[in-house]
Amino acid sequence: MRFDVEEVLCKLTQEQKTALVSGVDFWHTYPIPEHGVPSVRFSDGPNGVRGTRLFGGPPSTCLPCGTALGATWGEDLLLEAGGLLGRECIAKGVHCLLGPTLDILRSPLFGRGFEGLGEDPYLTGTLASAIIRGIQSTGVMTAVKHFVAYNQEYERRRVDAVISDRALREIHLRPFQIVARDAQPAALITAYNKVNGTHASQSAKLVEHIVRKEWGWNPLITSDWVGTYSTAEALNAGLDLEMPGPSRYRGSLLQDALDTGQVHQATIDDRARNMLRFARRATRVPVLEASPAAAEVVSRTRTFNRKLCAESIVLLKNEGSILPLPPDIKRIALIGSHMKRTAICGGGSAQLEPEYSVSLYDALCEVLPPTTVITYAPGHDVHKTLPLIIITNGSLEFYNDPPNGNAKLSLGTEPIWRTHFELMDYDGIAELDRDRFWVIMTGSFVPDTTGLWEFGIAVYGTANLYIDDELVIENTSNQVPGTAFFGSGTLEKRASRSLLAGQEYMIRVEFGSANTSPLLAGKKANFAGGGLHLGACPKLDKHQALKDAVAVAKEADYTIICTGLNEDWESEGFDRPDMDLPPGIEQLINEILAVCPSTVIVNQSGTPVTMPWARNAPCIVQAWYGGNETGYGIADVLLGHVNPAGKLPFSWPIDIRDNPSFRNFGMAVEISYTEEIYVGYRFYEKMGRNILFPFGYLFLLHPFDSSTNRRVSIIEEISNPTKPWKIQVSIKNTGQLAGAEVLQVYISPRYPDIDRPLKELCGFKKVFLAPGQRTRVEIPIDRYAASYWSEPGGLWITNKGVYHVVVGSSSRNILGVGVLEIKETRRWIGL
Ligand code: BGC
Repeated sequence: MRFDVEEVLCKLTQEQKTALVSGVDFWHTYPIPEHGVPSVRFSDGPNGVRGTRLFGGPPSTCLPCGTALGATWGEDLLLEAGGLLGRECIAKGVHCLLGPTLDILRSPLFGRGFEGLGEDPYLTGTLASAIIRGIQSTGVMTAVKHFVAYNQEYERRRVDAVISDRALREIHLRPFQIVARDAQPAALITAYNKVNGTHASQSAKLVEHIVRKEWGWNPLITSDWVGTYSTAEALNAGLDLEMPGPSRYRGSLLQDALDTGQVHQATIDDRARNMLRFARRATRVPVLEASPAAAEVVSRTRTFNRKLCAESIVLLKNEGSILPLPPDIKRIALIGSHMKRTAICGGGSAQLEPEYSVSLYDALCEVLPPTTVITYAPGHDVHKTLPLIIITNGSLEFYNDPPNGNAKLSLGTEPIWRTHFELMDYDGIAELDRDRFWVIMTGSFVPDTTGLWEFGIAVYGTANLYIDDELVIENTSNQVPGTAFFGSGTLEKRASRSLLAGQEYMIRVEFGSANTSPLLAGKKANFAGGGLHLGACPKLDKHQALKDAVAVAKEADYTIICTGLNEDWESEGFDRPDMDLPPGIEQLINEILAVCPSTVIVNQSGTPVTMPWARNAPCIVQAWYGGNETGYGIADVLLGHVNPAGKLPFSWPIDIRDNPSFRNFGMAVEISYTEEIYVGYRFYEKMGRNILFPFGYLFLLHPFDSSTNRRVSIIEEISNPTKPWKIQVSIKNTGQLAGAEVLQVYISPRYPDIDRPLKELCGFKKVFLAPGQRTRVEIPIDRYAASYWSEPGGLWITNKGVYHVVVGSSSRNILGVGVLEIKETRRWIGL
């Protein structure tokens, strides 16, 4: 039933208006059935649709992470990926997906860097628009996040991003401005942090003035989860919705604010009106309530997801043409922490329970010819918390009393098969005291290896582990804060036990919800349900593991090392302390390179890592967190089934100290964005700094002919200021393989009129060409291309004059240069 917003607004009671502007639970807004107003359901986002349960929900399709999607530079591909996400939302009854993430990768160390689309605002805004259009074409809504200047996890709710108007406009606000113009997402999520002294969720300048008045965009504006910090200030600034519920700052406090004149009735009505509009739009989303449909969606998406993963992969180096691997390899060694435990997703709210996943080891065993002898050695491990284990007959039993003492009343059970749960949003049992409860997890575990096993517990709450009724780990007292559970959990406590392969062991964990943790020192937890991570694996003898790996590599014709970071290293909740790979990897790589010249290093990470061995390594592949199909996607590239076309969506520094944000990132509650507009390649280009791999880079397996590209012409002068210019370039594929090239257009001032970067991306096009094929490509660029934000004027200006239009295959490899003459100076404000 569609309702009329104004009609309903007139009929609402004050209580209903108040209820409408805050969530009812973790994922839903307040319904008013008598007026046909539905409860709108949200779900994370951004690389899949987790659904409405952090624990025990239906499994999901996991797409490649944000930076991987950024590396595709593929608008058409991402439009299709958006459609897939939209269909999965429909199958899971979700009206609005929390994503995409538009935060700029200011520092490689940002814990959530993998979620965004890279370091460039134009690339981020353009690709995000494609994803949003894809999602919204299914009727499902999107909530873009996190508005704005959310670039670090350290003290994210307290930190103040001190930033000039010009940097804010040209770099950090720009992706939001682009999606507002090109994709009109239905909702906007404010960031946790402050911007120039005011929290984003209560900044009238950002929310009411820039988004609504200046851009003329009127999305539903919601706080991030537990990111509303005031009643009147946030409402007056334009924040429509407080999430999640139950409300902390609205409810009766809102009535008080009204009674005392801190908020006017008209403001409450505006917020309620926006919520009603949003809910009305939700009535058009053709959601299904039944979850089995999700499984159908998943099976239909496998092929596409594999393609998406393969197209995101960036070949960084391929000396001696090691790739593609020849079909007749006699002996291949598969080595590395990620070979069998291939990382599919980063950590935090982006993480979800995948329907399935494919390791690189399994994929290669499947696709390599049966005549190839495959040997394997892990070489080392990289986990910070021990990997989860599978238990059989696993269950969680819920209580309102602690496990010690008298007989308890069990309030209900939930099945579990993997030893991790998050109960922050758990509402499966009505009688459960969600403020403080206990859970007993039981199940049997059968190890596959005899020897010393290490067990570890990290908990948001308290937990003790018993194996066959013997207390093995006590993580209830003497807790040490750690990074688990978005930074709210303890450090993992570990203990070892000798186990026999094939024998069944009874596992029991007594867990107390978040508020039982002594770490809170009497304060209340933000997410009272808490969570548990129980990991275990055979204790690796590091010295022996290294020797074994070198031994198998020595015998092999080819070695593939798959290693990198994972959700222990890149996650919401914390930033990386440095850019290095986990300890031990560098030595492993060096020793393998010394014995096997034909070694391919496959790095999995969402952001750059230090590669001191890069000069000696003949072949390096950047493989991201590629979703369910990660193993197949990488294998397709290694074997040449896919000609890699992914290009870096960020610059890859040699050393973190080269990054412009290095002195002003993390570990402080006031961060000055002293790099100004010089983020990423804008800085490295201007300063003439060496970098390992430039923005937009790919080592082409079969180069495209650039000699035909020398002439870049502008075929259309601007006549109408909102109509784009078109750049024309010709290109030929001179290689043996069909493949894609991404042509990138940068604007470069011929005579400096103001302080500007040497190059700024303003257009790109991915072109697919058969061997020998030549084509002429038109690339549109818009009026922002040659513009800058004038701080004194408070508006955009394009000065008349002559600009170079540089077409490159990366920010450093120039294919051709054209000239753009702008005949008159233009100034504007708005989208
Ligand atoms: C994250 C958001 C996410 C929300 C809901 C927050 O902690 O910052 O990106 O959408 O949680 O899970």
